Amino acid sequence: MTWLRDWMMGPQASTLAPNIDNLFMFISAVNTFFFVLIVGLILVFVKKYRRRSPNEITPHITHNQTLEIIWSVLPLFILIGIFFWGFHGYVVAQISPANSIEIQVTAKKWVWQFEYPDGMRTLNDIHVPVNRPVRLVMNSEDVIHSFFVPAFRIKKDVLPNRYTEAWFHATRPGVYQVLCTEYCGKGHSDMLAKIHVDDDATYQKWLVEGDEEMKKMPLKELGQLVYENKGCATCHSLDGTRGQGPTWKGVFGQTRQFADGSSAVADENYIRESVLDPQKHIVQGYEPIMPTYQGLMRPRELLGAIEYIKSLK
Ligand code: CUA
Repeated sequence: MTWLRDWMMGPQASTLAPNIDNLFMFISAVNTFFFVLIVGLILVFVKKYRRRSPNEITPHITHNQTLEIIWSVLPLFILIGIFFWGFHGYVVAQISPANSIEIQVTAKKWVWQFEYPDGMRTLNDIHVPVNRPVRLVMNSEDVIHSFFVPAFRIKKDVLPNRYTEAWFHATRPGVYQVLCTEYCGKGHSDMLAKIHVDDDATYQKWLVEGDEEMKKMPLKELGQLVYENKGCATCHSLDGTRGQGPTWKGVFGQTRQFADGSSAVADENYIRESVLDPQKHIVQGYEPIMPTYQGLMRPRELLGAIEYIKSLK
């Protein structure tokens, strides 16, 4: 049955997953059993008790008390069992263990921002150690989003003006997908993040040094990665198409016309300002919706983005 479970539910990668899956499979099995039984009996009775000739008188049966008690009481016990099983699972999923690592999650159109206890911040990408509970304290800066990690079987709405929490204890190293599951506007389906579950040594190393590969990457390549991972792709196209924000194609060196009537040539400093203080100059014809990336990009990532934009002629 494991193949069926994996096919229906996806791989299990947290301590919460087995109980949730077992309950789900149990309910599915009970449903399937009674569906087959009831539909089967209907077909049998239709054939067995059909009227065979116009003059045939069928027996006058009104009810059967024993049968009625059985088919009422039996489902009652099954449902009470399902209730306590589900309630217990719900309580376990609500209360995070006391020794959890805490990560703050901020959702905003259309990125996931994470902050570690030591102040390190990341975008759309977190690393956590395997076999340690992690507690997420979540908040939204604008509309309702929802944090969903299928492999961990956790999903929780993320609201403005209120904290919600979720926790997980990852059991297998790997990279797991995070999705937004509350419709939050045009960029909703691009509001994705990755959770990297590392062994302890890799996790400690990452905490201290950041991503090794990214440090070695040529600037232009790093810029492309930034474009894909930090939410730029949600609003800025690479081929000249108009998006929520201006395209990146051919921007470098161009004179930009701003909503307040002023203008400037798009050089390195202009791009830097657009990333760190995006509300300062709004390009004519666009809404002031870009969030600031102040504190969310390492200096080398910003340089990379600039080099990448330069390369898009
Ligand atoms: Cu955020 Cu949908």
